[in-house]
Amino acid sequence: MSTLPSEATLDLVRRGRRLRRSPAIRALVRETRLSPDMFIYPLFVCEGEGVRREVGSMPGVSQLSVDLAVEEARAARAEGVGGVLLFGLPAYKDDVGSAACDPDAPVQAAVRAIKRENKDILVVTDVCLCEYTSHGHCGIIVDGEIANDASVEQIVHAAVSHAAAGADIVAPSDMFDGRIGAIRTALDHGRFENVAIMSYAAKYCSAFYGPFREAADSAPKFGDRRTHQMDPANSDEALREVEEDIEEGADIVMVKPALPYLDVIRRVKDVFQYPTAAYNVSGEYAMLKAAARNGWIDEPRAMMEMLTCIRRAGADIIITYFARDAARALA
Ligand code: PBG
Repeated sequence: MSTLPSEATLDLVRRGRRLRRSPAIRALVRETRLSPDMFIYPLFVCEGEGVRREVGSMPGVSQLSVDLAVEEARAARAEGVGGVLLFGLPAYKDDVGSAACDPDAPVQAAVRAIKRENKDILVVTDVCLCEYTSHGHCGIIVDGEIANDASVEQIVHAAVSHAAAGADIVAPSDMFDGRIGAIRTALDHGRFENVAIMSYAAKYCSAFYGPFREAADSAPKFGDRRTHQMDPANSDEALREVEEDIEEGADIVMVKPALPYLDVIRRVKDVFQYPTAAYNVSGEYAMLKAAARNGWIDEPRAMMEMLTCIRRAGADIIITYFARDAARALA
């Protein structure tokens, strides 16, 4: 007669598996939870009416005219999503990105329209020139170089025009030196002292922005962004960048991208204990979507795992194209 080996033959004081035995006990000891109100949902706003153009490299993401962006913001809000982040596809581009400051450009129009619809929808605007310049750079080119101070001046005008349209938070994404202080001063002088700044403080020069540049039509026509965005190899430098932005008046600091930079998120959160955002960028989204479409990965599970781990690393706010899907999954 064969006997099964009896259990508890090992004399173990601790058995980690005791707390993993059932969904209820796992929930009891879970350390990290997600909530839809920590998600920010990016929207790409274009000219026209009734326009919805799918972005090929980002299934489920579309360029939307203002009327449809309002609908999307309303739907996201109804699902509990914390806020929207607006990017613009302007009607015209020039070498100084004038349309970035145009009160009737898509972003400014969308801010007004969303706020008219429901002033409780939190509206964040991306402040940069790359969608607005004919050369696709984030700043103004002088003698073949991206000029810091001239670019900051133009970026300040853009930020003020977003505030004037009614944005709650402006989010400068350029990584030029001194722009947070310059924006804070201009906002305060314009009586926009209550408009917050979410700084793309530690923004890396990343290949993971590829799909976004299709969505926002913002790829540089020559060169790259290495002279202003950070080298992926550095994280002490990220702390210096974040510290400067906090000193200049940033209310929220961001690390971007998220997944390959979880260590940076953790360091920033631990050192500064400041509201910290992480941007789960287009390439991170596209990789998961592509694998899921091929049947290579379980998309809903991988999505929640990604977002949970970004949160676990220390992010208080997650900017993600999955915001609505994840909010529905959490409902
Ligand atoms: C604009 C900007 C970029 C992203 C957000 N703001 C692109 C870039 O810096 O080239 C990337 C977002 C994403 O990939 O999802 N400067």
